[in-house]
Amino acid sequence: NCKVITIDGPTASGKGTVAHRVAKHLGFQYLDSGALYRLTALSAINAQVALDDELSIAAMARVLPCHFNHGHVYLADKDVTDEVRAEQIGVAASRIAVLPQVRQALVDLQLSFRTGNGLVADGRDMGTVIFPDAVLKVFLTASAEARASRRYKQLKEKGIAANMEDLVKDLIERDARDSSRTTAPLKPAPDAYVLDTSAMTAEQAVQQVLDWYAQ
Ligand code: CDP
Repeated sequence: NCKVITIDGPTASGKGTVAHRVAKHLGFQYLDSGALYRLTALSAINAQVALDDELSIAAMARVLPCHFNHGHVYLADKDVTDEVRAEQIGVAASRIAVLPQVRQALVDLQLSFRTGNGLVADGRDMGTVIFPDAVLKVFLTASAEARASRRYKQLKEKGIAANMEDLVKDLIERDARDSSRTTAPLKPAPDAYVLDTSAMTAEQAVQQVLDWYAQ
């Protein structure tokens, strides 16, 4: 019986870092569901499919040739780890994520990560839609400014050019799209613990999640 911890929240709320560290600490599998939306968006762009072509993109998502290994992401055996993290791929991901058939097409792939002792799943709808029976659900938030400056640092570390004004604009736009869509909108599950990480370090957030899990 594989226990699931879900960590949902808006863009750059620290979900990825926190979820990854919690998984490592507990020896659990880790699912970065956002990566699947990003990979689907990248596939569509590579194939020059319009980002609102629901049927074609759902068909691609159903057979997404991706794999994950030691923090690297591969699409049809090409290492696309840095490419999928680009801000414009995040924006494209949020556009295809509004399409119900695309979301449906990614369900089985997400469920397949549930193996071994446990799984930490990070995304937007992990606690509400994909793993409603999770033993612990966390919803991370942070102010738009805190999130933009985290994203800025992340991109800079990777040598990717970024500007704060565009990042704030992007993330407000993306939050609005993620929250207002009709299928699986971004919102905390009724039984989720909500954690505002604006003034917290990643370690503090990880510790809080581990404390909740131990309760
Ligand atoms: O890293 P960041 O939080 O910016 O993005 P991400 O988690 O990689 O997700 C990229 C986009 O995919 C989000 O803006 C969502 O629109 C979409 N997404 C989703 O709809 N459902 C998920 N479970 C995960 C991501």
